[in-house]
Amino acid sequence: MNVLLNGALGKMGSEIIETAKKYDDFNIVCGFDKTEFYDKDFPIYSDIEKINEEVDVVIDFSVPVATFKILDYAKQKRIPIVIATTGFSDTQLLEIKNLSNTLPIFRSSNMSLDINLMAKLVQKIAEVLKDSDIEIIETHHNRKVDSPSGTAILLADAINQVFNNEKVYDFDRMQKREKRSKNEIGFSSVRGGNIVGEHTVKFFSENETLEITHTSYSRQVFAEGALKAARFIVTKEYGLYDMNDLLDK
Ligand SMILES: NC(=O)c1ccc[n+]([C@@H]2O[C@H](COP(=O)([O-])OP(=O)(O)OC[C@H]3O[C@@H](n4cnc5c(N)ncnc54)[C@H](O)[C@@H]3O)[C@@H](O)[C@H]2O)c1
Repeated sequence: MNVLLNGALGKMGSEIIETAKKYDDFNIVCGFDKTEFYDKDFPIYSDIEKINEEVDVVIDFSVPVATFKILDYAKQKRIPIVIATTGFSDTQLLEIKNLSNTLPIFRSSNMSLDINLMAKLVQKIAEVLKDSDIEIIETHHNRKVDSPSGTAILLADAINQVFNNEKVYDFDRMQKREKRSKNEIGFSSVRGGNIVGEHTVKFFSENETLEITHTSYSRQVFAEGALKAARFIVTKEYGLYDMNDLLDK
């Protein structure tokens, strides 16, 4: 499978390059990033027009603006794409959904199978603890630019399905002086050091609290998940898929 790696010069880009070496079915033929770079096993372009390699699948760990550049290219060439980038606006997410009417797109804010299992678990817990106050706390390294994390939103969205999407997300409690509403899911983002990713969902009832936590120790889990997603998406004609489609297999 010939791969175009978007965000090739980033931390996850390096992780994908290393992880792909373990498998015979992946061949990274080129990359895309902000700056052009040739001192690797493959060229990294900063100009879409220069890409002339045969590409079977795009893997994207970058920033939303770069995702949309590469989506344009994928659309023109009808190449399946795995989007792992986070921090999209609602409008951008809708645009991705619309593009999937003609293009195979796999998008997940978290490529770890365990996190996606956690999403299923917290959904089940929410079904039982319907009246609890639900809070999500996430911790990441000091270089992360978006908050809350895409994974925190992924977990909240899984919970919110239980409530017909009627729960409101409170991202910034410090801007107001009023007590917590029953109808909200609160988010707290902590940033520091080199933490790969920690997510905790807390269900507070009157006299007890249930919490469930996932900790990532290495970026390799995301790379492994993205490669699994690439194997999955190359077989599809079009449509929007996520990790649930892999978990359900
Ligand atoms: N879905 C997942 O499982 C998962 C896991 C880890 C990270 N992520 C997400 O993946 C993204 C990348 O993470 P990272 O840790 O590798 O970050 P990073 O900052 O190390 O890498 C981002 C790369 O994108 C490039 N870039 C920035 N602006 C660009 C532009 N305009 N055009 C082309 N390239 C551009 C940067 O130069 C950099 O090389 C983030 O959105 C992060 O949240 C997702």
